[in-house]
Amino acid sequence: MPRAQPRYRGLMSLAASDPSFDTRVFRFAARMGRLKASAIREILKVTDMPDVISFAGGLPAPELFPIQQFARACQEVLANDGQAALQYSVTEGYPPLRRWVSEYLARVNEIQCTPDQVLIISGSQQGLDLIGKTLLDPGDSVIIENPAYLGAIQAFDAYEAQYINVATDDEGMIPADLLRVLQEAKPKPKLLYIVPNFHNPTGVTLSLRRRKEIVAMAAEFGIPIFEDDPYGRLRYAGEHLPSLMALAQSRNCIYMSTVSKTIAPGMRVAWLVIPDRELFERVVPAKQAADLHTSSFTQRAVYTYAKDQAVFEGHIAEMLPVYARRRDLMIESLERYMPEGSSWTHPEGGLFLWARMPESVDTEELLSLASRSKVAFVPGYPFWVNRVVRNTMRLNFSNASDDMIVEGIRRLGDAVKAYLAGER
Ligand SMILES: Cc1ncc(COP(=O)(O)O)c(C=O)c1O
Repeated sequence: MPRAQPRYRGLMSLAASDPSFDTRVFRFAARMGRLKASAIREILKVTDMPDVISFAGGLPAPELFPIQQFARACQEVLANDGQAALQYSVTEGYPPLRRWVSEYLARVNEIQCTPDQVLIISGSQQGLDLIGKTLLDPGDSVIIENPAYLGAIQAFDAYEAQYINVATDDEGMIPADLLRVLQEAKPKPKLLYIVPNFHNPTGVTLSLRRRKEIVAMAAEFGIPIFEDDPYGRLRYAGEHLPSLMALAQSRNCIYMSTVSKTIAPGMRVAWLVIPDRELFERVVPAKQAADLHTSSFTQRAVYTYAKDQAVFEGHIAEMLPVYARRRDLMIESLERYMPEGSSWTHPEGGLFLWARMPESVDTEELLSLASRSKVAFVPGYPFWVNRVVRNTMRLNFSNASDDMIVEGIRRLGDAVKAYLAGER
């Protein structure tokens, strides 16, 4: 007797016989409920139209990219080391680049680290993800500045972190507020994440006194510091300040930087410095699972370009006056065109300044008014951890020409005045 074939039952018939049967094919992990496309990326889609003067993105000036010297470095890599450059490689990174990073950090940041404490990563954004993956369980808390770098929140959101925000002012994170947080927070936060130099979005720099206080408090309460420093080399005024990592003599610290703002963000080359051996050895497999390793070719090209100190430092020295002039021009234009009751930060470096409009201005509403006059910025509310402050905005000064800065701020000033007069 032939055996009866089991009858194939489609999704719909299964659902009909069992109402609890889930008919969706892709059923998302719970953590995706928290993970949204960055509000900024969404805004940029609207504002980065060709005829809009945009202060919205965080882009370096492309006309300053060292294209010819970088092309030479790429050719040299392919001519001398082509096979290895195109081959799979080790997760920790290209050894000469790791060695260069340790020497570079000793030279420019007073950080004493060995090459085997340096992990080459595919952009700082990957470092945020890897540290989140390695340290954060759902519900763990991270201490962050308020307002904070959105990319960090987005990375830690994937690990279902909670945030404890610490107030900031013109000198950065306020130690008295941090102390309150450290005394009250239970259970103990897993991490203190901080951007001490030319903060994104505020442009503010953490003062030396506060650096020392924060390092001392973190040590006393046994909280690791994760120092994110993409902008440190872009200083246009004031004195260089030692990194938190250097002040803490590397104890309980993770330091991160990138070539995105000194060479070009398209490289996707950055580094984590992790002196704690156990942590380092756990972050390596986390990276391996993510991408095996950062591009063998790009690491060699960055090394070959940057190892020539005269070339690399010469390039930074060329960029600084251009950015400094754009920053000054933006501040002068704000002074000229913004109405009474508005204020802004005076960043000593980096790519952004942070402006506060009169209390009654909602910058999200203002953006639609401003985009009709073809000028754009990022409303500040997504950067505030609780999103209640509505009258701030982030303005990028690195990616527009001198003329565009003056004209864009004039249009923006007019839009604010029109808003205050009741136009929407
Ligand atoms: C504070 C901060 N961290 C990290 C990043 C990401 O940098 P990367 O291009 O190295 O991924 C940025 C980029 O704007 C940033 O502002």
